[in-house]
Formats: sequence, structure tokens, C-alpha cells
Amino acid sequence: MEHYLKTDEWRIIESGFHPEFAECSEAIFSIGNGRMGQRANFEEGYGGQSLQGSYVAGVYYPDKTRVGWWKNGYPEYFAKVLNSVNWIGLDIEIEGERLDLNAAEVLQFERELDMKRGVLSRQFQLRFPSGKEIEVSAVRFVSMRRDEVGAIRYGMRALNFTGQARIIPFLDFDVVNQDSNYDEKFWEEVERRTGSQKAAILARTKKLDFQLASAMRYEWWTGDKIQTLYPETIERDKYVANSFEVTLEEGQDNCLYKYASVCSSMNHAPSALLDTADERASEARRAGFDVLLQEHTDHWAAQWEMSDIRIKGDASAQQGIRFNIFQLHQTYTGEDERLNIGPKGFTGEKYGGSTYWDTEAYCLPFYLSTAPQKVAKNLLVYRYDQLGKAIENAAKLGFENGAALYPMVTMNGEECHNEWEITFEEIHRNGAIAFAIYDYIRHTLDASYLFEGGLEVLTGIARFWFQRFHYSQRKRAFVMHGVTGPNEYENNINNNWYTNYIAAWCMRYTADCFDRCKQEDAKRTEALSSRLDWSKEEGMQWRDRADRVYLPQDQEHGVFEQHEGFMDKELVPAERLDPDERPINQHWSWDRILRSCFIKQADVLQGVYLFSEEFDRETHERNFDFYEPFTVHESSLSPCVHAILAARLGKMDKAYELYLRTARLDLDDYNKEVAEGLHITSMAGTWMSVVQGFGGMHWVGSDLHLDPALPDQWTALEFHLRFRGALLRVQVEPTRTEVLHLSGEAVELKLYGTKLKLSEGSAEQIERP
Ligand code: BGC
Repeated sequence: MEHYLKTDEWRIIESGFHPEFAECSEAIFSIGNGRMGQRANFEEGYGGQSLQGSYVAGVYYPDKTRVGWWKNGYPEYFAKVLNSVNWIGLDIEIEGERLDLNAAEVLQFERELDMKRGVLSRQFQLRFPSGKEIEVSAVRFVSMRRDEVGAIRYGMRALNFTGQARIIPFLDFDVVNQDSNYDEKFWEEVERRTGSQKAAILARTKKLDFQLASAMRYEWWTGDKIQTLYPETIERDKYVANSFEVTLEEGQDNCLYKYASVCSSMNHAPSALLDTADERASEARRAGFDVLLQEHTDHWAAQWEMSDIRIKGDASAQQGIRFNIFQLHQTYTGEDERLNIGPKGFTGEKYGGSTYWDTEAYCLPFYLSTAPQKVAKNLLVYRYDQLGKAIENAAKLGFENGAALYPMVTMNGEECHNEWEITFEEIHRNGAIAFAIYDYIRHTLDASYLFEGGLEVLTGIARFWFQRFHYSQRKRAFVMHGVTGPNEYENNINNNWYTNYIAAWCMRYTADCFDRCKQEDAKRTEALSSRLDWSKEEGMQWRDRADRVYLPQDQEHGVFEQHEGFMDKELVPAERLDPDERPINQHWSWDRILRSCFIKQADVLQGVYLFSEEFDRETHERNFDFYEPFTVHESSLSPCVHAILAARLGKMDKAYELYLRTARLDLDDYNKEVAEGLHITSMAGTWMSVVQGFGGMHWVGSDLHLDPALPDQWTALEFHLRFRGALLRVQVEPTRTEVLHLSGEAVELKLYGTKLKLSEGSAEQIERP
């Protein structure tokens, strides 16, 4: 994509109107508050290319599965994130001409996403076909403090005329989903109410009966005077509005304030929904725009205190990382353990807004280090709450004894992905879910979570792996056939090194956890074991199987073999690919991709990264040098893992190149698909590549280590880290690093190998060796 956004450390700026990138901008300038969010659609509507999108967390539609050839075990539905009520809507007509940037001459245009304050604004001047010119200045946000409320300030000024304007603020459930298997509309109206300067509407989804109520209040100001209005009401199926006429005096400032609420039956009794939504909108209006804005920006200020990253000397990298942190915090706040992080967050429909292994493998480390402990914990609780469904899912495929297979894609614990090579085969996801528990405990030392659900999840997963291996007489080892590794450009392979490795690890770790729990509380462990029908013998069988798992290696190159047969491929580096044929998934047949050696995303290297402390430097280096050249990074989850490994190996140029690719993936649209939505989950990977890559954060057992090293392009790096009840600030300069303890518990960590003991207010500085 042509670089049309300005570089700025705190803001994303579109200067001048770029209708050719309209849908890209809608995604990039999206705003949300963890409960709801939306693309940066224009309030006044837009006749050009646009994907209208307002989303409410957790609200989905089980769209009937569509496949060419049904296979037993396929899920009945694919969950779709629902485009829901358009609450920003505001139709404006001036003397018979509709305000639409697509139907007028745009004289000036500036759009800005202020990431520091979480505010989207737009300022433009346009000339209608009649020659009338107006100026608009629109500001909106979805409140972080009142997560069911959004507010808009829409200023208008007639520049060269005095005339009548008709203003129609509305709420509209008559919306479409681009991602719908049978072109259905998913909402049905339940009830609507209209009144003077207010309206409310309640709708339900087909099938699952999620109910959403939305309400609005608004005011019209001329200069600094609020105007009394006598609006007409407009109602039709799924739509409520008010309509009123005002005079726009040449040069006079006018302003519409719209306060809207969106309340869901996930949080309120359906019978109380309309009243609650109405009350929320009314409270918002009483508070007023400025108060709401202040509360909201205060929240963001506190959020940035905990999670900001400063990069000196590289504005483009700085903007990239802040954009990623901003989007992650506005997608998931950890307030509600029923919610999770869809790969597109509130910015698009693709991937159905559902939960993937991305959450555990990528997002968890981010929230562990940048938010209160309960935020990451709620991500674990989410999976615990879905354990029953994971056990059912495994049973459906023929597994027994409480074996659990978590879905590749889910909304409520049920699998909803229906490509056999993913649904049945991409089972490494189970490993990431177990690893997340390990990661949480080593980061927080909160091992009590094992008793609160962690051990049950681990047991289900260990039982699955135990049964999924079979014994090969020829190899005299336990092997796993018919899987897809993280590299989805290979399916139905045998002995994917990563999957076998993480599966063996899970069995061992779960057995270790039983031992640990027994030491901590023998009685409770006994009760839990008996409830799970678990015995010491089962633990021994897990360990024995784990020790006899087959892990393919290639002696010639001294590397782990991605899967059996990989070395027989025609091994051609990706740099020889014709740039016009990249990404290959948009240019090549699937058959050609499957036969090629090109790797979609970190696979062996995903394992080397996760289990880093188990491998020496040479092993890291040989595997990195071997696999990186074949990796096409066509999943946004890929470059960050490679960037971390490159940084740890001191390959700083490579690390920097890969880092930029992840940090600015969406801002620069590397994968040519940002219009469909942002890559929210891989944004956490970007954070990892800064903190775990250049910041050198890694673990040896439960000891946190920092070994920072900057790329040449950066003169300094500063990041925050929440760790075991402490908030730390790490300031990295080319030759030394300082760690400051800002608040909270006393903690220990190792900086460049030297043990530091830090308590509130203390700071330690060490020269880079
Ligand atoms: C990746 C998966 C990932 C999914 C959702 C796919 O392209 O290959 O690893 O879980 O996207 O982000």
C-alpha cells in the first residue's frame, strides 16, 4: 500500500481524503472498549466503498456450516461475529443535498486517531454540487469507564451560505454481515420506542436469541446555546430516528452531541434491557460530553502508565508499537471472563471474532506484563469454563477418559472451524492452552490456580495427547500421524516436531503439577485426583510416553525436522520467489503450496522460542538459519517469533527488519488485507518482539531474565513490566540498562545475568556486557 498515513508518535493521521483506502482506514481508525467497538465508519454515512461494522463482544451467530463435502465430526456451524446496531448514524441533508463525502468535492480532510486519549476525530470541508461549502468537525469515542456508552460531538459550520439543514440522528439494526454463509440478515426487532430527542430499540439475533438494546439522546447547540427542538419521530422495522430542521447561519458554529448506549442480554435480563439502555444514554447526556471524555482519557492515561513503550530515534517504530498496544487494550480489558480476543477484535468480520490459539500463544504474555493479574487470569478461566465442551469435542472424535481437545476456533467452547486439516489435525492448539497455565504461574507465582481449574484443564489435555500418540514398532517410539503444525501450508503430516514436542512437554508438566499440588496441599490434591479419577500410575504412564516420543531430527543440518519428509522437498529459499507472486496464498494453487517448501509461519521455530531455555545457543542458531529462509511469513503471527529469535541471536538487522514487518503490518498493510480488519492477536506478538526480543526478557525456570540489546536504529528503549505485583520500568540504552521499581511488591530478577532485588522506589543500572 502506498504510505498514506503520517508518522506521528501518538497519533494515526490521514491527511487529505483517500477514498481508495476507505476500507483500510475504517479498520485502522477503529475504536473499542473491550465491550463494544466499531470500524471508523462515517457518522453521516458514505456512498463509496465501505464496510459498516459495529460489534458487541460475545454476541455471535451460529451460521450454518457450508462445505462441499461433509465429513463426520464437522461442526454444524461457524460462529460469525455480528455487525450490530449502527448507533453512530446521523443523516444530514442541506437544502436537498445529502452530506456524503462520496457525492461532494472534498476541499480538505483530516482524520486522526489519538491513541493517548482513545479518541477518533475528523475534520473536513466540502463543496456540494450546488456550490455550498460546509465544514465539519466530528469527535467520537466509546467510553472506557462506561463500557456500554459511546459519545459523538459533531460540529458543523456553513462557510458560504445560510440555509436549512435536516438532521436525522438514528439507531439502525437493519445491517448486513459481509461474512454470512447464506446472505441472511441476523437481527430481528423486538421493540422500539421513540420520543422527543430520544429513541431506543431492542433486537434479537436469530437462533441464539442474544438481545441488544440501544438508546440515544442528543442535543443541538448553536454557538454556546442549547436549542429547543421539536423533532418528528421516524420508525420502521429495526430502525428508530428523530428528524429536525435547523438553520445554518453562514459562519456560525453548530454542534450535535449524540449519546448512545448499547446493552446486551449477556449482562442484563432481557426484560430490563430497553430501560437500562435508555437509562445509560440518559445518564451519559446528563454527565455531558466533556465529563465523559475526561473520564475516558483518564482511563487511558492510567493504562499507558502501565504499558507504554518508548522507542527513541525511530518515530515509525514508535508509532507502530503504540498502535499495537492501543488496539490490544481496546479489544480486551479482562473485566469479563466470558470474553476473549478475536483475531480481528472490533475491526472486521473475518475469523468470526472467535477465539484461536493466538490468545494463549501470543496475547497472554502481553496481558501478563501490561495489565493487572486478573486480566490474564480471566483468559485462563475462559478455557476452564469451556473444559466440558473440549471433553465432548474429543469424545466426538473417539477419545476417552476425559481427554480434552480444545477447538481451533470457538465462541462458546464448541469447535466451529470446518476444514478437516485444521479442525481435526491442527491440534497443537491444545499445547498452547497448557503452556499458558505454565506461563501464568511462572510469571505471577500464583500456583493456586492449579487448584482452581488449572490442573483439570491440564489433565484433560495430557489425556488427549497420551491417546493421540501410537507406538511404532519400526521406530520403537511413540509417533503422531495426521496432523497440521502451525505451518498450515502442510497438512496431514506425520510427526510434526513442534506438536510432538509440546505434547510430550504437556504430559510431563501435568504430572509435575500433580506432584507440586500434593506438596502444597495433599488433602486437596487427593480430592481433586479422585474427582478426576487420576492416579499416580497415570502420571507415570504420561512420563513414560513423553520420554519415548519420536522427535524427528536432521543430522546433516543439525536441526529438528519440521515433520517427516520435509528434508526431501525441493529446498528453495523464499527470496527466490517472484515478488509478484507473493503472498503465495493469493497467487498459487493450494496444491502447489502444499508441495513447496515454503513455510507459512514459525513452526519448528515456534517450539524453539517457547522452550528456549531447553536448547543451547547453537541449536537456536542452526534452526533459525535453516528455517528462516523458507518462511514466507504469510500469517501475521510469524515475523514476531522470528524477530525475537533473531534478536536473541544478536542478528540485529534481521530482527529489526522482521520487527518492522510486525509492528507496522496493518499501518503499512504488508499482507494486503487490512481492509478486512486489523490483526489484533498478532499485535501482541509485536509487543513480544520488543520486550522479549530487543528487551531480552526470557525465563530460566521461574527466574525472569532481561538481556536487552538495541538495534542500531534506536537510541533508547523504555518499556513497562508488571511482574509479581510490581510495576517496573526498564530503560535501555545502547551500553547500559536501568530497571526502576515504580510501585508494588519487592521482586527479584536478573539483568544481564546479575541478580537484582528491587523494591518500591529503587533503581539498578548495569552496563551491557
Ligand atoms: C494462522 C493461525 C491463526 C489464525 C488466526 C491463521 O492464518 O495460520 O495460526 O490461529 O490465522 O489468527
